[in-house]
Amino acid sequence: MAGKEIKVAGEENITSVLHEDRLFKPSEAFSSQAHVKSRQDYDRLYRKAEKDPEGFWGELAKDLHWFKPWEKVLQWKAPFAKWFVGGSINVSYNCLDRHLKTWRKNKAAIIWESEQGESRTLTFQTLHREVCKFANVLKDQGLKKGDRVVIYMPMIPELSIAMLACARIGATHSIIFGGFSASAIKDRINDAEAKLVVTADGGFRKGSVVTLKDKVDEALKETPSVERMIVVQRTQSPVTMQENRDFWWHDLMSTASADCKATPLNSEHPLFILYTSGTTGKPKGVVHTTAGYLLGTTVTSKWIFDLKDTDTYWCTADIGWITGHSYIIYGILSNGVTSLMYEGVPTYPHPGRFWEIVEKYRVNIFYTAPTAIRALTKFGEKWPKKYDLSSLRLLGTVGEPINPEAWMWYHRVIGKEQCPIVDTWWQTETGGIMITPLPGAIPTKPGSATLPFPGIAIDVVNREGKPVPADVGGYLVVKRPWPSMIRTVWRNPDRYKLTYWSDIPGVYFTGDGARRDKDGYVWVMGRVDDVINVSGHRLGTMEVESALVSHSKVAEAAVVGRPDEIKGTGIAAFVTLEGGQKPTEAFKKTLKAHVSKEIGAIARPDDIRFTDFLPKTRSGKIMRRLLRDIAAGRESVGDITTLEDYTVLAKLRQEDDA
Ligand code: PRX
Repeated sequence: MAGKEIKVAGEENITSVLHEDRLFKPSEAFSSQAHVKSRQDYDRLYRKAEKDPEGFWGELAKDLHWFKPWEKVLQWKAPFAKWFVGGSINVSYNCLDRHLKTWRKNKAAIIWESEQGESRTLTFQTLHREVCKFANVLKDQGLKKGDRVVIYMPMIPELSIAMLACARIGATHSIIFGGFSASAIKDRINDAEAKLVVTADGGFRKGSVVTLKDKVDEALKETPSVERMIVVQRTQSPVTMQENRDFWWHDLMSTASADCKATPLNSEHPLFILYTSGTTGKPKGVVHTTAGYLLGTTVTSKWIFDLKDTDTYWCTADIGWITGHSYIIYGILSNGVTSLMYEGVPTYPHPGRFWEIVEKYRVNIFYTAPTAIRALTKFGEKWPKKYDLSSLRLLGTVGEPINPEAWMWYHRVIGKEQCPIVDTWWQTETGGIMITPLPGAIPTKPGSATLPFPGIAIDVVNREGKPVPADVGGYLVVKRPWPSMIRTVWRNPDRYKLTYWSDIPGVYFTGDGARRDKDGYVWVMGRVDDVINVSGHRLGTMEVESALVSHSKVAEAAVVGRPDEIKGTGIAAFVTLEGGQKPTEAFKKTLKAHVSKEIGAIARPDDIRFTDFLPKTRSGKIMRRLLRDIAAGRESVGDITTLEDYTVLAKLRQEDDA
């Protein structure tokens, strides 16, 4: 294995993570029982989908429950897609009601484990009951089909109940990750014009209480659209309830009827909006609709996680991110499979917590982020060795490229060299997994997401949209619409067009650089735009910059990513100060806290450097590449001929040495 520099056609160099030759084949025992059993089976499916994509997806869609079948599989007026046109369907019905007619009615749908080790099990029947009740609560509060509901909650079963209840009546949910600040909540509520917010008094994190309702209270001072707030009591933290606006979940649920038919919804009805970072300071509301999203997540869940009725499946993501939407709730429940939901973090109260839970529930399929694996690797093998992990049969990763060392540890220490690993590449916008091994069919190479899912047409191209040869870096694009794709940016179709369908002619641009090796395996090299991936979560550098300059003592700020052993990427900020403000250590702390307050702790810069000038081109563009080199402690090798003032570079370096 050797490090290798891969050139991206027409762009600055991007260093590919590695050149990796090891190949891991699934065992005969795994392949023979898998949904997709061999490379030949995969090739057959792939070719079938290429020949007739609409026929391929249409056939699979027949396995869902429809109130009314569709008339046309796809209506494509580039770049706007409508899938299963004319059909009528409900996601909550597909995740719940249809299993009630089978033996699964008393099967565990959600097994929830709290941080402190309490457990709650909701069967399909009991979950259905709670969802129906909460759907009636929403209706009683005046919620109608198409209204938006913001959900800001800890990882407790009520979060799943709330989202499925929205889906049941056609209210569009927008879940905000519990780590976001009041200011981030406000922006999202206002963009979505939400009518109602569901929250909790607080949540538990690493043994402490994190308050949540107070952040919503703060946000609601400037959100004219919100009429009601429903509050789950989780931590018993003191809260102020505003009369006629705020209601306790348990009060409303105590009188709610458990009878609520799922509303038949148009295939293209917006199921949810999920905000994600882009290259501007303002997050985008990614819109996913009903039928296509459900189909995409259902089929990918089944084939990639090789789901069987006997499985206990655990995805460790937070439901506040797309991974939790698609692969804790919708795709898994729609398959009638038991989904484990964990409230806490990997390392609390001890670094064996994940493995303790695997043992406790005999987890069969485990899906997590490379960041978590890297963090746990640090604590050594003694932690996983304390627990019985023999129930595991399949492992997965998501969110960022996984380095081969972490992959090998996962394979050896967790999977005991018996479990295939599915490295799944996808995005908030893609709704479901796009590039991945099918575990019984595709031999894996550590660090590669391998091959496209059948029906997904990806390519690696140059700026002009021309495919690049094997082992040459380029832009990762999708050439054809797919069912679970983003439909638009909420109330901003122009931004949708501009962001995804304009940079490279005729295709969806992912924002990622990648290369394909001679076997056609995809190696994702990371973002090529001003987006960084911190612990598997996407952040726009512009967002952090906007937060920094919103401080009255900051004149200018540039934010770049730099390598971080655990998080993948750390956040480095270069800041110029307003006259009068001294560049002190104390002020660095103030600024870090300021960013946490503006966006959330996830965006808190790891390093702040004060500088008198930022390196700019003659046209005034900040030269981020230089800053990236400096932040990473690299000698800059790139072209600096466009640098306006060479002395800036030397000064920044001096600052580094200081
Ligand atoms: O850069 C890619 C990286 O995460 C980005 C998508 O981030 P987000 O929308 O927050 O969704 C994360 C969870 C789906 C991608 O553009 N990414 C995601 N999965 C992988 C990955 N990079 C490499 N390998 C992956 N498996």
